[in-house]
Amino acid sequence: MQQIELTVNGKRASFMAEPRLLLVHALRDYLGLTGTHVGCDTSSCGACTVLIDGVSAKSCTVFAVQAAGHDVTTIEGIGNADALHPMQDAFWEKHGLQCGYCTPGMIVSAVDLLQRNPNPSDAEIRAGLEGNVCRCTGYENIVKAVRTAAAALRENRPRRAVRDIEPLTPPVEEPPPSGEAIIPEQLQETKA
Ligand code: FES
Ligand code: FES
Repeated sequence: MQQIELTVNGKRASFMAEPRLLLVHALRDYLGLTGTHVGCDTSSCGACTVLIDGVSAKSCTVFAVQAAGHDVTTIEGIGNADALHPMQDAFWEKHGLQCGYCTPGMIVSAVDLLQRNPNPSDAEIRAGLEGNVCRCTGYENIVKAVRTAAAALRENRPRRAVRDIEPLTPPVEEPPPSGEAIIPEQLQETKA
C-alpha cells in the first residue's frame, strides 16, 4: 500500500492504495465519483475518459499511482447544476444520449477535442471521438451536440443552469375518434 495524493476536480485527494489500483477504480470506489463509467476495462470503449492535466485519458489504462501529483477532471468537474458546461447543455439540447452510459466519457473527450480544435468539421468530430463507443449508436446527435457546443464556446454564450432548462415534452397524439389503431406515418404508405 502507498499514499497517493492528487487533485481531482480542483480538490486535493489523498488515500492509501495498492500500486495496481486503476485510476478509474480510485475515482469511483475511493472518491465516490461514479460519473466516470467502466464499459470494458480493456481500453476499448472510452466510458472511463477523464482529463489528466487537461488532456483526455482513459482512466482504465492509468494506475492511480501514475496520476499522483497530477490534476484530474472527471465529468463531475466539467460543469455543475448552476452552470452547465456548453457541452453538457448541447448534449441535452440535441438529444446526444440515449441510455447515457457512454455520455460522461463522450462529453469529456469532446471537451478535449474542442480545446484542440474549436471549430471542427463533422469528419473531425467523428475522428476525434473514435475512441468512444456508444452502444445505443446515437452518433448523429452526438456530432450535432459537439457542433452546437463548439459554436456556443466560440461565441462565449452564457452558461445555463439546469433549473433554466425546460423539460422536453413529447408531442401528445389525439386518440382516433372510432378507436382505430394509430398507424405511424412511415408505415402508412406501406399499408396503402
Ligand atoms: S472502461 Fe476504459 S476504455 Fe472502456
Ligand atoms: S447513449 Fe447508450 S451507450 Fe451511448
